[in-house]
Amino acid sequence: MAEISEPNYRSLFDRLARYGQEHLLALWDRWTPAQRRSLAEQLAQVDLELIARLWEGRLAGPDIDRLLERAESPPGVRLDGSGLPFSPAEARQVGQQLLRQGRVGVILVAGGQGSRLGFSQPKGMFPIGPISRKTLFQIHFEKVLAVGRRYGVRMPVYLMTSPATEGPTRQFLETHQFFGLPADDVVIFCQGQMPAVDGQTGKLLLEAAGRLALSPDGHGGLIAAMSHSGALQHAQRRGLEHFFYFQVDNPLVPVCDPRFLGWHQLAQSEMTTLVIAKRHPLERVGNVIWVDGRLYVIEYSDLPDELADRRKPDGSLLLWAGSIAVHAIRVDFLARMAEQADQLPFHRARKKVPYLDSQGRLIHPDQPNAIKFERFLFDLLPYAEGAIVVEGDPKECFAPVKNASGAKEDTPESVQTQMSALYRQWLRSVGAEVAEGVMVEISPLFALDVEELREKIPAGTSIRQPTYLG
Ligand code: UD1
Repeated sequence: MAEISEPNYRSLFDRLARYGQEHLLALWDRWTPAQRRSLAEQLAQVDLELIARLWEGRLAGPDIDRLLERAESPPGVRLDGSGLPFSPAEARQVGQQLLRQGRVGVILVAGGQGSRLGFSQPKGMFPIGPISRKTLFQIHFEKVLAVGRRYGVRMPVYLMTSPATEGPTRQFLETHQFFGLPADDVVIFCQGQMPAVDGQTGKLLLEAAGRLALSPDGHGGLIAAMSHSGALQHAQRRGLEHFFYFQVDNPLVPVCDPRFLGWHQLAQSEMTTLVIAKRHPLERVGNVIWVDGRLYVIEYSDLPDELADRRKPDGSLLLWAGSIAVHAIRVDFLARMAEQADQLPFHRARKKVPYLDSQGRLIHPDQPNAIKFERFLFDLLPYAEGAIVVEGDPKECFAPVKNASGAKEDTPESVQTQMSALYRQWLRSVGAEVAEGVMVEISPLFALDVEELREKIPAGTSIRQPTYLG
């Protein structure tokens, strides 16, 4: 018992008991000194007051039902270029100028655990190129490299990982020499974690002896993580004015699209989000809505079917704008929000979380047993002045890899089919003849868009078998 009476134990016990969490020490006796130290270190990072308030619902975000009562279509630019008093050509020119002046950096979030895909490594390492088998990371990095070359600038990438993805991601990117980007243009930083609590009691869970069940604090954890890690200050030193933000799972992201950036700049928006017109009312994407002059994203799971199906007089969907989680964000806006990162709400998700029972046995629940708390980056939108949406064509900009092969949608196969269909369309639009259904892939280093492809494809080109243009 000598070690149990370590001062450590007493003070830990007292602190935990104030929040009804002293059960965490029930197995202390059986643990090694290293295990005890590990728990004490983890607990030092946990804000028990915050957990208590979250559990009691005292820090709930905005009242979604009240927002939805007043939800309207968001303002912004539609696919045909209408919606703002600036032409697409003007927007492109302004965006190109921002890029040429080196005012834009890239944020890529890759801290998620990708459990739905059933891939045990970080999702960015998933081979998605339909022919090349290039990984998501390679495709994204090559796009950044190609944009930098086109505009004659070095474009920094701020890559967010989580404790689970950090090590393998760094190792993978270092092994591949950042796919051609200079190492000091790639700033990797790790997001924070939040403990999971038991869904019935609000008690913290242990995943192993001396180890709390922790998980990433959501992509909204980016704001605090960028500032604590120095990534934000790096961007400020480099003179960046805007970030182009996207998620690791979508190989079709039009990285740093100049028109998108131009519209963001012309509208003097602090945060602009690229959306698609939802293909059906219940499409599983976030819904971008407009309430009292502010943009919000409401997850599909929170949108009642009746509202999802509400129509405008012309028969189109009232809440038409689906989030593809691609944003342009002003650096000064992110810096301002970093000072008040605590204001972003936490969302609760019911999940299956393995835990140690009171006897120290590891239980693998077959039903959701726990609540995880996550912050979402899109909760910045209502704070942004001048926020707008810009509509993209889903065939050109949205093919996320979410689910394992065999699922109904967003599988590796459906994404590859969509990539290949887009590249066939590009080739045909520059005059090539491409046999129906034949797989094609175009490397970002070969052509970033149709205009660039036009310069490289000789008239009369005919493609009859799987082709990789790299
Ligand atoms: C997300 C959006 C949804 C949008 C869809 C588009 C949320 C809650 N929902 O759905 O509105 O329509 O993408 O594809 O975001 N990530 C982190 N750290 C975390 C959690 C996630 O970096 O703690 C990263 C992931 O690596 C990934 C991205 O965020 O790049 C999205 O995460 P994911 O959980 O896959 O979001 P979805 O539920 O698919």
